[in-house]
Amino acid sequence: MNVKKVEMVFLSLCASMLLVFLLALFYSAYGMGMHLPGVEATVDPREVRQTAPFDEPGLREVGEGQYEAVFLGFAWGFQPREITVPAGSEVTFIATATDVIHGFHVEGTRVNFMLIPGQVARQSYTFREPGEHLIICHEFCGAGHHLMYARVIVE
Ligand code: CUA
Repeated sequence: MNVKKVEMVFLSLCASMLLVFLLALFYSAYGMGMHLPGVEATVDPREVRQTAPFDEPGLREVGEGQYEAVFLGFAWGFQPREITVPAGSEVTFIATATDVIHGFHVEGTRVNFMLIPGQVARQSYTFREPGEHLIICHEFCGAGHHLMYARVIVE
């Protein structure tokens, strides 16, 4: 093979790789519906403890096997500290922060977001197996960061 041919092979390999990556990107975005999380809703961070649903943090049943878990994150803890749901429940986490930016990750699940004062985060997850999941703050938020956790207990 002469140099020109080798170069052509190389170029077409590169071009087809780019094409494959682009197709994968489009497929994940439009075929599978993957996208970056957006702003679910906003809330005035100064009034958050007086604004529904954050005036009553905790778990409520909204349908058969369906729950809403409203969480507040603050330095340094979560309210509520613990929720308990039966196995098989679909839990929609609705959360925000009252002071600075915190993290919210339910270990062993894909529930993972940042709590930003003024913005409401929301994500659902179905807990199929009984067990315990820690909710941890994964955004450094000061001296008590490592003490900031809560628990999901699945019975
Ligand atoms: Cu809150 Cu780290």
